[in-house]
Amino acid sequence: MKAVIRGTGASIPTATLTNADLEALVDTTDEWIVARTGIRERHRLEAGKGASELATAAGRAALESAGLQPSDLDMIVVATCTPDMPMPATAAFVQRDLRVGRPIPAFDMNAVCSGFLYGLDVVQSQIESGRYGCVLLVGVDVMTRLMDYQDRSTCVLFGDGAGAVVLVGEQSERGIQVTKIKSDGEFWDLIHVPGGGSRRPASPYMLTQREQYMRMNGPQTFKLAVQSIEQIARDTIEAVGWTLADVDHVIVHQANGRIVEAVAERLGLPPLKLPTNVMQMGNTSAASVPVLLDQCNREGRLSAGDRVLCVAFGSGLTWGASAIVWDS
Ligand code: ACO
Repeated sequence: MKAVIRGTGASIPTATLTNADLEALVDTTDEWIVARTGIRERHRLEAGKGASELATAAGRAALESAGLQPSDLDMIVVATCTPDMPMPATAAFVQRDLRVGRPIPAFDMNAVCSGFLYGLDVVQSQIESGRYGCVLLVGVDVMTRLMDYQDRSTCVLFGDGAGAVVLVGEQSERGIQVTKIKSDGEFWDLIHVPGGGSRRPASPYMLTQREQYMRMNGPQTFKLAVQSIEQIARDTIEAVGWTLADVDHVIVHQANGRIVEAVAERLGLPPLKLPTNVMQMGNTSAASVPVLLDQCNREGRLSAGDRVLCVAFGSGLTWGASAIVWDS
């Protein structure tokens, strides 16, 4: 039994935050942002809305693309670090708003930017075991809610969005071959949000310290991101018995255009094999890989039998990769 991606979908807020908008907020320039990151604009979810609205729309699009109904789903998994609220899980809202019509397991996972890869690992094993036959996996983040628009080193990087896939169990040679996920908590402080959790709950003091916003050591993260992505990409390809030359598309987490270029160089792959949308999206965290996967799918870039490697890296630190033989 293989877990096969039967449909893909995405939902991106229409409102944009351009580099010119950011020039008006912090001491930065379009030239600096484009040269250091490749990002020209990112999308921002309007105030009052939450991750579940993007996740539900992406899920609906993925179901349509699969030719399936919400009532066909056996499970919903939402990867996010920006849930609608601490409880209930964002997946509960998605289950309600898709009108699944019956109780099914629906839960959130948090591996930050690697969340979609962690989700693939869990869903793959649930489907391969035969316990669940049709699963919606969504990667969604509303990162603009975690940005400190007084901190130029982080606020220029992130945007909002959701990407989704519907996976079904089939007797097939295609589908997900191998997924690998890793974490190293020693580096927790490279990218973190200090406040708002159980250790430092919301308080007037916490807010004055701006601890509700993300903090990141960019240069150190950059270095570890490139190393970890290269290593797990090589390990995953080896585990499935492919060579790098066999891979048709590498869907790499869109954190920074320079990371995508560095990964292509280290893996010795032509840039054409690493599609990118960071210019229009920025870093959408858990949504980054499924949004790009959906874009490539809808543009007709993925053909049945193509070998696709998805790979991501994020706070935790976490990282992961999945080798997939495309079938749609
Ligand atoms: N505009 C202008 N200048 C800036 C800006 C800005 N927006 N941001 C930083 N600078 C300045 C710095 O203050 C510094 O100035 P100084 O030399 O006078 O001190 C200078 O630019 C260089 O700063 P660096 O941080 O060294 O710049 P770098 O080339 O490393 O680029 C960046 C920074 C873009 C953040 C890069 O390090 C990066 O992309 N890191 C990886 C981030 C990442 O991958 N995150 C993934 C995980 S995200 C998650 O899990 C949620």
